Amino acid sequence: MGSRKADGRGRMGPSGMEKEEIGVTWETKRGLGMRTVAVANQKGGCGKTTTAINVSAALSAAGRKTLLIDLDPQAHASFGLGANKGSLARSAYNLLTSHPGKRQPLSACTLSLSSNFDIVPAHIQLSTLEQELKDKEDAVSTLSGILSPLRGAYAYVILDCPPSLGFLTFNALRGADRVLDSGNPEQEPNVFGTLDSVLNI
Ligand SMILES: Nc1ncnc2c1ncn2[C@@H]1O[C@H](COP(=O)(O)OP(=O)(O)OP(=O)(O)O)[C@@H](O)[C@H]1O
Ligand SMILES: [Mg+2]
Repeated sequence: MGSRKADGRGRMGPSGMEKEEIGVTWETKRGLGMRTVAVANQKGGCGKTTTAINVSAALSAAGRKTLLIDLDPQAHASFGLGANKGSLARSAYNLLTSHPGKRQPLSACTLSLSSNFDIVPAHIQLSTLEQELKDKEDAVSTLSGILSPLRGAYAYVILDCPPSLGFLTFNALRGADRVLDSGNPEQEPNVFGTLDSVLNI
């Protein structure tokens, strides 16, 4: 994990492949090392938000610049990190909406929690986005399109998903390089059904 070093660890490989310090090769959608992870499971209460908060906090504490985007209208990650006091104008709703008077760039939607840890808080109005964007072509790629220009601005972007396989989770899956499933695969072997078909939407 982490920044590129003179000894070659963490350097870019062919086709945007980047070698991890831990020896795992991770192909990112955006190259330049920004890794995007969706914490997702359609089952409620299986630890998505707890995982997203703790993974984000651990990465930032380890010196990796981390952005947590709370995509759940319940805003539990935002509450958990004390980032729920912002107005609607600084939320994932404003990041994703196509409403010209409400849409904001990422920098205007982000709160700093510490030197390496930013959050885009959620807002209950996130739940209206699916209806709002239903006629927009390729609306499930909205978040992916926002993250792409960021490239190396963050080492990690963690996406806390709502407990459904709806519009917001589809956006997260489209935008992510990896999916972290916080469920128990032995108890819930078919949580996503055919995950491949989801990722190929
Ligand atoms: N590893 C764990 N062991 C025991 N309890 C846990 C663990 N992870 C989370 N919990 C507890 O389970 C409950 C649900 O956790 P959490 O809110 O993270 O789930 P969630 O999947 O995000 O829920 P939702 O689907 O509503 O968003 C919380 O009370 C949390 O403290
Ligand atoms: Mg949650």
